[in-house]
Amino acid sequence: MQCFRALRYFSVWSQVPMGPADPILGVAAQFKADPSTTKVNLSIGAYRDNDGKPVVLESVKRAEQIIKEKKLDNEYLPVEGLQSFIDASIKLGYGDAYYAQNGKSIAGCQVLSGTGAVRLGFEFSKKFLPQGTKVYMPNPTWPNHHNIARMAGLEISEYRYFDPKTRGVDFSGLVEDLNKAQNGSVILFHACAHNPTGCDLTTAQWTQLLDLTKKKNFLPFFDMAYQGFTSGDVNKDAEAVRLFTAQGVPIVLGQSFAKNMGLYGQRTGCLSFVCSNQQEKDKVVSQLKLLARPLWSSPPLHGARVADIILNTPELNQLWLQEVKMMANRIQLMRVGLANTLKSLGSPHDWSHISKQIGMFAFTGVGPDHVKELIAKYHIYLLSSGRISIAGLNEGNVKYVAEAFHDVTKNTKL
Ligand code: LMR
Repeated sequence: MQCFRALRYFSVWSQVPMGPADPILGVAAQFKADPSTTKVNLSIGAYRDNDGKPVVLESVKRAEQIIKEKKLDNEYLPVEGLQSFIDASIKLGYGDAYYAQNGKSIAGCQVLSGTGAVRLGFEFSKKFLPQGTKVYMPNPTWPNHHNIARMAGLEISEYRYFDPKTRGVDFSGLVEDLNKAQNGSVILFHACAHNPTGCDLTTAQWTQLLDLTKKKNFLPFFDMAYQGFTSGDVNKDAEAVRLFTAQGVPIVLGQSFAKNMGLYGQRTGCLSFVCSNQQEKDKVVSQLKLLARPLWSSPPLHGARVADIILNTPELNQLWLQEVKMMANRIQLMRVGLANTLKSLGSPHDWSHISKQIGMFAFTGVGPDHVKELIAKYHIYLLSSGRISIAGLNEGNVKYVAEAFHDVTKNTKL
């Protein structure tokens, strides 16, 4: 009998609703589709050079050359990833001294960049922490944090982070909220370069949070997607992680090499857990593998090889550290450039927060209507929250952007 299984008399997917565009990637797609020659992309957090072009770091090019010369194969990595890369990432995150003493009891797993780190970490938390354990996230946070927690089935609560009045951290609100959080909760921290606000905690504030963490038995989950982008120094940017681990706090750490090595599309990252001993570490890794296998089976190879070579070859490592510094410095120059140009244009608003904030982003304070106008009239693409990626600014467009911001805000309140 003939079988016409492909023939259907009704549509199977007619009930599927159109999904909303991603608040970040959707804007980046809108930018791409805009034929304007003066358009400026301040939406996605991806580094650009002074000509507005994506950058392949020299250290990355050299590592890729080494890979090419080695004529390596494309076999699968093990589920947990490339071990030498994992070890080097852990050393970079926790610091040489801590690694030398405690490296054997840190469980590490290669993951798909920052998103993969948070996803796997949340899946693990959901499976092994007591039922009902909540994850506390800063308000605001990177919108994808919410998606990931939802997908992992974790209940989300928020803690205050940003004060729109001061355009800085609402530390008393933060402490008040975390004081009320249930003991044993997972607390998501941005280790540095807070996304989207560009406002980080001071050493004194981290120390206070460390005490609170110990008192309330919290599990701090550090998302460190921008190591090096705050100060230009990877060790300085890992200060919070090292402060907590030095006191023996069992943290979870998510690391991404998307930004600091410019390996965006390579999906290169590492997730690690501080365990009490090697046995516990082995058990944790075995469970991470069981969770990773149905998610992505085994992680991508190329970026891990590149990062591995850069982190483990002293000359390339030095070169990379200089390149990180160079990227952080250029961003800082653009911050000051934008704030100063707005001032020199006679803006009635105080834009000094743009130069004070740090990392890749500035939380400008402009509202959704301003954003709409900036896109429609000037083809300047930014997030509806008012977040701009400073990395999208350069000497050729900063004046244009400042003039546009001045134009859409000069007769309004911010
Ligand atoms: C961003 O916040 O712009 C980046 O982290 C890119 C992304 O995936 O959202």
